[in-house]
Amino acid sequence: MHKKVLAIYYTQSGQLGEIIDNLTAPLVEAGTSVSVEKVRVKLAKDYPFPWTADRFFSVMPDCVLDVPAELESFELKEPAYDLVILGYQAWFLSPSIPFNSLLQHPVLKAVLKNTPVITVTGARNMWLNAFVRVKKLIRATDAKLVGNIALVDTHPNPVSFVTIFHWMLHGKKDRYLNIFPPPGVSAADIAHTKVFGESVLTHLETGNWNGLQDELDDKKAVVLNYNLMIIESVAGKIFSAWANFISKRKNKSPWLKLFKYYLLIAFFVGAPIVLTIDAIFFRFFSPKRIRAKKQYYLNLN
Ligand SMILES: Cc1cc2nc3c(=O)[nH]c(=O)nc-3n(C[C@H](O)[C@H](O)[C@H](O)COP(=O)(O)O)c2cc1C
Repeated sequence: MHKKVLAIYYTQSGQLGEIIDNLTAPLVEAGTSVSVEKVRVKLAKDYPFPWTADRFFSVMPDCVLDVPAELESFELKEPAYDLVILGYQAWFLSPSIPFNSLLQHPVLKAVLKNTPVITVTGARNMWLNAFVRVKKLIRATDAKLVGNIALVDTHPNPVSFVTIFHWMLHGKKDRYLNIFPPPGVSAADIAHTKVFGESVLTHLETGNWNGLQDELDDKKAVVLNYNLMIIESVAGKIFSAWANFISKRKNKSPWLKLFKYYLLIAFFVGAPIVLTIDAIFFRFFSPKRIRAKKQYYLNLN
């Protein structure tokens, strides 16, 4: 039977588009039995890329508080699909504003009801909180999440923290000072996404999605980093307090500047303290609690 697939996403640098291209390659190569419609959505008023530091931090409150923005109008070719692939990126530990806006858009919502959905992200390395909220947005559309793929920058956390700012503020995915590694998801990891697409194709053909996530996990489509999970679980709550506070200020810019400095201190001083406390009191003594936390972040329901 002919299968119809929609892959829809927003991307600034093009990285998520490359990931989607590689993920859907096996479906495209399957020939006439599968049709793949790829849609790259745009904002009516897009954020200029590269960012300036002030503009970059200025989107934090709206990201964290799920405030949508207007999208350029778009149409879909089909009234229904056998699978929808949703590409999303994390911004400030939240679904990005464009993705949040997309999931609230009536054109997409109309095809999501009762439809299998696979999520794929191309993040720096902190996508867990965003994924929890993406799951909630998907649940609200009555779609059924059947798989999740998370690609990240696998360099050490402080290294990717430096290189992502180089990328976001200069617009080039190249080596900062010729010393640092290239930022973002590596070219090899992006190309490897094809392997996940092969698993997706097998399940698409049978229409039975049971076991897909286990196969994806075996292929390392999602690798959970314990330390990052701990940092995110603390940082998510603090970001939320900052966003609520700043959104109520008339003049936001001094507070956003303060948030920027807070972030630097939190990253290089606060995070190591949190991890030390966790290692002393929790990591080795509460395996049940840790299992529950992992489930909370990774399960598909
Ligand atoms: C404003 C902003 C905030 C970001 N915050 C995060 C974050 O909290 N966690 C993370 O892993 N990546 C974060 N990133 C990186 C993005 O998730 C993504 O990897 C990068 O922007 C490339 O995506 P693109 O395909 O849209 O160009 C952020 C990027 C931007 C622009």
